[in-house]
Order: sequence, then C-alpha cells, then structure tokens
Amino acid sequence: MAKKKTIYDFQLMKREGKKITFLTSYDFPTARFAEAAGLDMLLVGDSLEMCVYGYEGTVPVTMDQMIWHSQAVRRGAPNTFLIGDMPFMSYQSSVEKAVENAGRFLKEAGCDAIKLEGGKRISAVIRAIVDAGIVVMGHIGLTPQSSGQLGGHKAQGRTAEAAKLVVEDALAVQAAGAHAILLEAIPPEVGQYITETLSIPTLSIGAGPACDGQLLIVSDLIGQFQAFTPKFVKKYCDVAEMVTAAMSRYCEDVRGGSFPEEKHCYRMLEGEEQKFADLMKSGR
Ligand code: KIV
Repeated sequence: MAKKKTIYDFQLMKREGKKITFLTSYDFPTARFAEAAGLDMLLVGDSLEMCVYGYEGTVPVTMDQMIWHSQAVRRGAPNTFLIGDMPFMSYQSSVEKAVENAGRFLKEAGCDAIKLEGGKRISAVIRAIVDAGIVVMGHIGLTPQSSGQLGGHKAQGRTAEAAKLVVEDALAVQAAGAHAILLEAIPPEVGQYITETLSIPTLSIGAGPACDGQLLIVSDLIGQFQAFTPKFVKKYCDVAEMVTAAMSRYCEDVRGGSFPEEKHCYRMLEGEEQKFADLMKSGR
C-alpha cells in the first residue's frame, strides 16, 4: 500500500516536474476505487450538490452534508491526501466562523486540508485558517460559488487585463499562506504563467497542461453526470450507459422469468421439504 502523500511531497513533485493526479470523490465505493487507482489527492467538492443531490448549482450544500460525505470518502481512501471543500457561507461571513468550519473537516472527517474559493478578497480568511495550523488550497479563476457575480459559469482571464487580475489573485492566495492553489477555467497561457511564478503547486481544472497537477470531477470522468459537460472534461467511461443497460436487462429477466435462477435460491435443508408439506397438510 502506497504511503499517504503530504503537502511536502506535492511541493517536491512540483520541483521535479512530476504531475499530481487529483479527483473529486463523494462516497465510500468511489473513494476505494480512487485509492486503488493510485490518485494522489481527493477532493470532496461542493459539486457534491450537483453530482449526487441533483441540484443545479453548489450553493445549497451545508457543512453537515460536506462532513458526512468527507467521512465516507475517508473510510474508503484512508491513505490518500483528502481535501474538504468549504461550502458557500461557511467562510464568508466571519473569519472566526471560517476557522471553526475548516477545523471541522479535520476533526470530524479526518481531512488533510481544506479548499476555499476566492483570491484577494479572502486573503484574511486564508491567513487565519493557515495560522490555525490547517493546510489550505486556494481556488481562483472560475469560482462557482460566486458565479452570479461572474455572469455565469464562464472561463476567466481571457483578456490581458482580466488575466492580470487572475494573476493578482494567485499571488494574494500564496502570500496569505496557502499551500496549493486550484485554477479553474482560465487560458493555458495564464495557467502556465501562474505555475511558473508561484512556488506552491498549481492544480488545474480547465487551466491547461502546464499546471503541476490536474483535477477532474469523478462524475464527469466516469460519465455519470449528464446535465452538461464542461469543455475541460475528458470522459474515460460511460457509467450511465453501462448501468442503464444493466438495469434494463434486469427488468427483462424479471418480466421474462429468467431471474432468479436455481443458483440464486436458498433450498430447504435435506428432508425438510416433505416434512413442511406434511405439516401444512395436517393443519398444525
Ligand atoms: O466542488 C468541486 O468539485 C470544485 C471543482 C469544480 C473545482 O470545487
């Protein structure tokens, strides 16, 4: 069994040019698969709310939901670096609340780190969580929790001026003490510039190949999420097709009488069938 990596391993991987593999996970079985597949990092993302609970966005997710799912993922992947995603309004209203909620991921779910969205505007929150001894991953570029202010789920930093703002956010996150940063939906040129400029590892979800690691949403990777497919997604299998086909075959078998078969039945013990028939006949 591989040893669980730490933030120092990820810094070394950045220096040595070894790519970091990163995936979301929301439940015990998928976490087991991810650990068996050798993922370096897992994120219990607030995308949980869309991928598992069927909401249109991530805003409704609560701290308690995030904790329950992080606990399940930790049970499934005890030896993988695990990051809990701070849900909307768990860190925006006060620094004290942010530190407390960040601590819950470590104390109640055994997470190794937390992630939170925002650049310059949440520097003070990042600093306070780091000062509490917690490993922090920043998240800038497209930040889904504030997508209303961004005019929707749109790529960021596509003009020179906008790219400069993204770079300023990245620098602010690093200066606040974050240990890694996730870059979402920004041009690869900007992802590369930030990766070369920062000393902390950069993780990309739609930020190009030059970043130190790549993140995908597991429900996209396995073809389970069907509402829409962002440009940065690569689907590696089609679970929706496989599972729907399996379920239809099950319905056909039940309706046609070919399931269950003899091998699926619990027969009575030897001699008991006749005794049972006699018992029923005698009415006792
Ligand atoms: O919740 C999540 O999975 C995320 C990704 C969209 C980056 O934060």
